[in-house]
Amino acid sequence: MSGPFKILALGGDHIGPEVVTSGLEVLRHTAAQFDVPIEIEEDLLGGVSWDAHGTFCTDGVAAKARAADAVLVGAVGGPKWDSIRVDGPITETDGLTRLRIELDVFNALRPARSWKPLLSRTPYRKDVVDGADLLVVRENAGGIYYGEPRGREVLPDGQTRAFEISEYRTHEVERIARCAFEAARGRRNHVTSLDKSNVMESGRLWRETVDRIGREEFPDVKLDHLLMDYALYAVARAPRNFDVLLADNLFGDLMSDLVAVVSGSLGMLPSATLPAVAQADRPVKGGIYEPTHGSAPDISGQGIANPIGAILSVGMMFEYGFGVAPAARSIEQAVERVLLAGLLPLDLGGNASTAQITHAVLLNLQPNSSL
Ligand code: IPM
Ligand code: MG
Repeated sequence: MSGPFKILALGGDHIGPEVVTSGLEVLRHTAAQFDVPIEIEEDLLGGVSWDAHGTFCTDGVAAKARAADAVLVGAVGGPKWDSIRVDGPITETDGLTRLRIELDVFNALRPARSWKPLLSRTPYRKDVVDGADLLVVRENAGGIYYGEPRGREVLPDGQTRAFEISEYRTHEVERIARCAFEAARGRRNHVTSLDKSNVMESGRLWRETVDRIGREEFPDVKLDHLLMDYALYAVARAPRNFDVLLADNLFGDLMSDLVAVVSGSLGMLPSATLPAVAQADRPVKGGIYEPTHGSAPDISGQGIANPIGAILSVGMMFEYGFGVAPAARSIEQAVERVLLAGLLPLDLGGNASTAQITHAVLLNLQPNSSL
């Protein structure tokens, strides 16, 4: 390896910097433990960047992100910046989406699993949720988020028309399909692809293409197709029937919040968004790692945010960004031990602070020690 891994940390807004602080502590600790050389730089993204520079993501931050081996993001946005409208594509109004396009991170991996110590914190009966282990593979650089044209116009009758376009090209569907099939090979070999091919043309292309890639390149992986509306019901009802859930940008966004229910809270969910297929033990440069939750303005500044989504995102960084999967397993085990000890954050019905949880995870990362 040539030099240390370069990490750009972008806390973002509200609870974003709070959970990124926790993530960075776990990052430094684990890197030392597993002998992974790292170099961390911090900068602004989102509303804080708007306040300082008049843009949600500066060219400088975009350039640093392109040069980094991995980017750790907290969360962006908040009421203060909601009404700001900047002309142009969504990449101008949202710093995170600009970053995703700059890095061409099309492969969003959003895992959600049940945790034994949290079974009773979910709305499920134990026998329905115990063992649920899902991976949403979300296309993250195309679709309705970025289709052109988009915008608004005032019609002759005085009505305002607002519009965006859901569009996909064959190669965009092919590459994300391969990511889902590859991921399934390392899991339980089952992909369920989601679309609205009954009403959307882009959904029909999606289904045909996923089907072809599956048949031609991954005949060993079981593939099902479901319409997105029914899929929400089926996954909510019996999450253990599913393994990898492959979806376009918008449907993947929706599904990745829904699956959080199996873990007990959205605050538990990590993500890795990569510019390539994830490879076991081979680092992928230029991924974005972020908790799936938002910036939670209502609880920011109180030190009570759940840092586990950010901490587990750091685990994903070790696995995919640095090719050190054992470090990811070690972080997951430390989290599990903390939960087992009953130390729970507010969103899981406990009263442990962000700092207490982080400290407990760090303690549990020591070999042979526990809380
Ligand atoms: C997510 C978020 C983002 C998205 C927002 C903040 C732009 O909901 O990462 O899931 O819609 O992609
Ligand atoms: Mg979302």
